[in-house]
Amino acid sequence: MRFDETRHAGKTVMITGGASGIGLGIAQRFLAEGAAIAIYDRNRPDDSAFVADQRVLVVQGDVTDEAAVDGAVEETVSRFGRLDVMVNNAGVIGIGPVAGMAYDEWRRVVDTNIHGVFLGARAAAKHMIAQGSGGSIINASSGAGRRGVANLSHYCASKAAIIMFTQSLALELAPHKIRVNSYAPGHIETPFWKDIAEGFAGVLDKTPDQVIEMFASSIPWGRFGTPDDVAAAVSWLACDEAEFVSAQAIAMNGAEFPY
Ligand SMILES: NC(=O)c1ccc[n+]([C@@H]2O[C@H](COP(=O)([O-])OP(=O)(O)OC[C@H]3O[C@@H](n4cnc5c(N)ncnc54)[C@H](O)[C@@H]3O)[C@@H](O)[C@H]2O)c1
Repeated sequence: MRFDETRHAGKTVMITGGASGIGLGIAQRFLAEGAAIAIYDRNRPDDSAFVADQRVLVVQGDVTDEAAVDGAVEETVSRFGRLDVMVNNAGVIGIGPVAGMAYDEWRRVVDTNIHGVFLGARAAAKHMIAQGSGGSIINASSGAGRRGVANLSHYCASKAAIIMFTQSLALELAPHKIRVNSYAPGHIETPFWKDIAEGFAGVLDKTPDQVIEMFASSIPWGRFGTPDDVAAAVSWLACDEAEFVSAQAIAMNGAEFPY
């Protein structure tokens, strides 16, 4: 893959959940395209060469920890001097019917997927408004935020909320030239799928491999997506030529419904 090494030169990009899967793919792409990167994740990335790069800062913490999220944005600005792009990517999933769902399980998913995005977006917006040079906030939704899925109610509800949060925040921040968009991936091959395969295997009486096969056969493009399929679109959303694009939810799903 060839990258335009100057596309995001001079910008600082913060990515929550950047230690794995889609978030790591987004971080690697922005780094290759010239940006300085701050990863905020409860885990550290395994990729030691990536972490050792002078343009990469790793801050460990939870997206639901208000003080820690604010602190991570401050640390990013103090290290790189500015914040231009915030990608609120961290998310968790759980599988199970509503009738048997523990309240704690509902809260676990909603806390990370909605409250975590709110805290990251708020910290970034506050800083970008003060900085006065615009910016881009990009939030992780999902195809599951546009279509109900049995046994995925809390996840679907949380990802639908992100689309409305994104639209509302885009209206608030337009006067500051801060764009707010979300991305709604279909099935992307990441460690996330271990939880999905095991969770659906339990409720559908299948093996995890059969679950993967079932989802794979539903993708018209004939393959799972990759983290870079998502990163390519996120990078474009953040670039200057997308200046008039805000309040959108953009899908990358190999033509799978919902469109
Ligand atoms: N993989 C897919 O098929 C798919 C499809 C649609 C949407 N998404 C969304 O994309 C995002 C990334 O998913 P992924 O597939 O890369 O998952 P992943 O499990 O590979 O990575 C998620 C990362 O988020 C971090 N994280 C989770 N909860 C956190 C918390 N509370 N605080 C800090 N860090 C936390 C994890 O440590 C991990 O590094 C999620 O929001 C997910 O809902 C994924």
